[in-house]
This record gives sequence, structure tokens and C-alpha cells, in this order.
Amino acid sequence: MNILDVIELKKKGSELTDEQIRFVVDGFTLEKFPDYQMSAFLMAVWFRGMSAEETASLTGAMLQSGQELDTKGLTGPSADKHSTGGVGDKVSLLLAPLAAECGLKVPMLSGRGLGHTGGTLDKLEAIPGYRIHMDNDEFLGIVEEAGCAIIGQSGSIAPADGKIYALRDVTATVDCVPLITASIMSKKLAAGPQTIIIDLKTGSGAFMGNLERARELAANLVTIGKLYGRSMSAVFSDMDQPLGIAVGHANETIEAFAALRTGGRESAPKDLVTLTEDLVAEMVRVSGLCPDREESLAMVRRVWDSGSALDRAITWVKAQGGCLDSEREDFGLKVAPLAIELAAPRDGWLAGVDCRQVGLSLADMGGARRKVEDPLDLTCGIDFLPQIGEKLSRGDVLARIYCDRKSEAQVAADRVLASLLFSDDPVAGRKVILGRLD
Ligand code: URA
Repeated sequence: MNILDVIELKKKGSELTDEQIRFVVDGFTLEKFPDYQMSAFLMAVWFRGMSAEETASLTGAMLQSGQELDTKGLTGPSADKHSTGGVGDKVSLLLAPLAAECGLKVPMLSGRGLGHTGGTLDKLEAIPGYRIHMDNDEFLGIVEEAGCAIIGQSGSIAPADGKIYALRDVTATVDCVPLITASIMSKKLAAGPQTIIIDLKTGSGAFMGNLERARELAANLVTIGKLYGRSMSAVFSDMDQPLGIAVGHANETIEAFAALRTGGRESAPKDLVTLTEDLVAEMVRVSGLCPDREESLAMVRRVWDSGSALDRAITWVKAQGGCLDSEREDFGLKVAPLAIELAAPRDGWLAGVDCRQVGLSLADMGGARRKVEDPLDLTCGIDFLPQIGEKLSRGDVLARIYCDRKSEAQVAADRVLASLLFSDDPVAGRKVILGRLD
């Protein structure tokens, strides 16, 4: 077989065989052919697409390029959630201990933030001592003992994805449903959970700008997961405004764990609570622990209100070397001092937010990456206070910007202000859950 022939076939729109796709993935991973040929192949896929069978083969080849975790030894049903990423998305930090308290085992491999979207690993690194790398046995041991664990993807998990993703990033081939599907699912399947719930975000702060594209991606992810024998479901959620109030790292981590305190379900931001309880209930329902959606939701709320998930979170974080001091309001995490309060420039209703710009304002303060290797300031952040549809008066505080460097905070504040759209007429609020796909 010759790589040129395979590129030629895809260029002409042919359906590739499993053998041909494996030849491409294995050859590229083992550096048997150069980046420029893989780039041509990826661009051909971008234009011609892939069938479900081809996408399954691509996923399989990428999955089998590395190790797969064996979760069969866990003493409860295993489940995970994958979010397609957004601004203020700290759901995994609450969801993992809540799901564990409901009786699930939650092995999570998470990623770092890039561009305007935040990453769970960066938020966890705001906890002093937290270790994101360990070997598979230790990871699974913590999942068994603590019920959940969250680590970073090591080089041994789907290494083909790491190489291919880096090339997609610089060849304008990221926004391609079969390539995204294989990339996400190869990593998720490698972590071994029996149930996978997808949180597919759409809106100005999401990867998928509209619900139609989100539906296409969700259908692909669910199809591939099922082909690999996993129980799957997808929830569509709104990313036209930040989730919760905190946008950053340490501040988001504090908001997430504070929501687990007794009474937190009532006092935490409503959108964060609604989405988190829905996703945990889906994990509980789809994994078969409680097959009815309403009953699953009731179980999650009972568990949440008991306050026990915070103890669970402290145990899990400690097992990974971190320290959450629940006696302190900030759990012992460091947030930069308040630099600027951004005030509403006029009366009116908040009609829209360019959520991507809110995410990018963190980069203005060194709190988000423009390149994968950029170091991060985990202490800076934004509290974004209003919700779309809210009536505002001139001078109301819209955002609090936390940063050690006032000039950078000012750039961030200007960007946040420019991201807002005001209306003289009332505007409807937005729902956080936009639909679902079983
Ligand atoms: N997230 C991934 O892991 N891969 C993609 O291709 C896109 C988002």
C-alpha cells in the first residue's frame, strides 16, 4: 500500500477501507511518512468527509495507537462526561464527586485550555500540590478508593491523536466532524468508562457555533461510542454566555467546590447547578443505576443537598496530592486581588455576550494560552455577573476583574465591555439546556 494512493482515493471521494485508514494512522504515528502527506490526507477528509464506518476505523486506529485502561476491576459501573469546551465550564469538578457519591466510578482524563476555552486540568492545578500525572495503576486505584479521579492525558493514551491534532491545528483542519469525533472518542474510549455522556456546547463561546452543527457532531460521537459497546447520551447546552459567574482558574475551582457545600445547590449560580445535576443524572440513568430520568435527578439532588460530595471531593483531591481547606471560604487557593470593577455604561437589558471574547480577556492577563506551551497565571480571573435578559441600570457592576497587573486588567475589562450587547427593550433569558440526544 502507498500513502499517495490512499490520499488520491480520498481526494476523489472514495470510501476507504479499515486497512487503508490504519495504514495512514500507523504510518504517520511511526513517522513512516512526512507531515505534508498527512496534511494532504487530512485536507482531503475535510473536503470529502467520512462515513460512519470510516470514522469508526479512524477512531479505532487512533485508540489502538496507545494503551487502553482496563476498568473491569472497578467495583461499580464506570461513567465519564466529555464537554466540547467553553467559558466558565467548571462542571467536571462538581460532577465527578457527585457522580461518585451516587455510586458511580468516574475515571476522567481531561485536557488543558487553549484559546478562549478553559481546561479542567489548569483549574485543578490551581490547587496546591495537585498531581495531574500518574501511572494507570495509581489512577485506577484512586478511582476505586475515592470514587473519582481526574488526570491529564499521558503520551501513552492515543498518541496518534496528539500528533494528528497538532497538525490539524496548523493546517486549518480542526473543524471537521469525523476528525473531531475520532479525536475525542479515541481518548474517551481509552480511559475505559462504560458510560459516556457528551455535553455538547453551542453558541458564541463554543466550538460548534450553532445547534445544527452540534447535532451532527453529537450524532457522530454517540454512533461511534455505541459501535465500541459504550452506553452513550448527549446533552446540548448553551455557551452564548459564561457558565456560572467565575471565569478563570483558581476562582472557578473555588466556585465549583463552594457549590458542593451544604445549601450550595440553592446558592450557586442556577445555570451551573441545572447543567451539573442534569449531566450527573444522565450518568446515573444511562449507566443503569436508576433508569428513570426524574428519579435519577431526584437522587442527584438528595446527594447534593446532603453535602457529602464535598467530603468526597476533598478525599479525591488529597489522593492526588492536593489540599482543599474546607474551613476557608477560598479553600486555601490563591486568587489575585480585585483590580477593576466594570460598571454598566447605560440603562437597558443585556441582549447578548460574545462569550469567546470573555474567554479571551483572560489571555489579556496571562490566564489563557495563545500557544499550547504558554505558561498560565492561575490566579487572575473574572467574575462575570449579569445574565442575558437581565435589566441593568447605569453603574451596576457587570464584572469584577482580578489581576496583579492593573494595566492588563484594564485591557481585559475593555474587551469584556466590548463583548456586550445592550437593548432598550426587554430581552428573554436563555435556557442552559437546549436539548438532548439518546
Ligand atoms: N477536542 C478534541 O479532543 N479534539 C478535537 O478535534 C476537538 C476538540
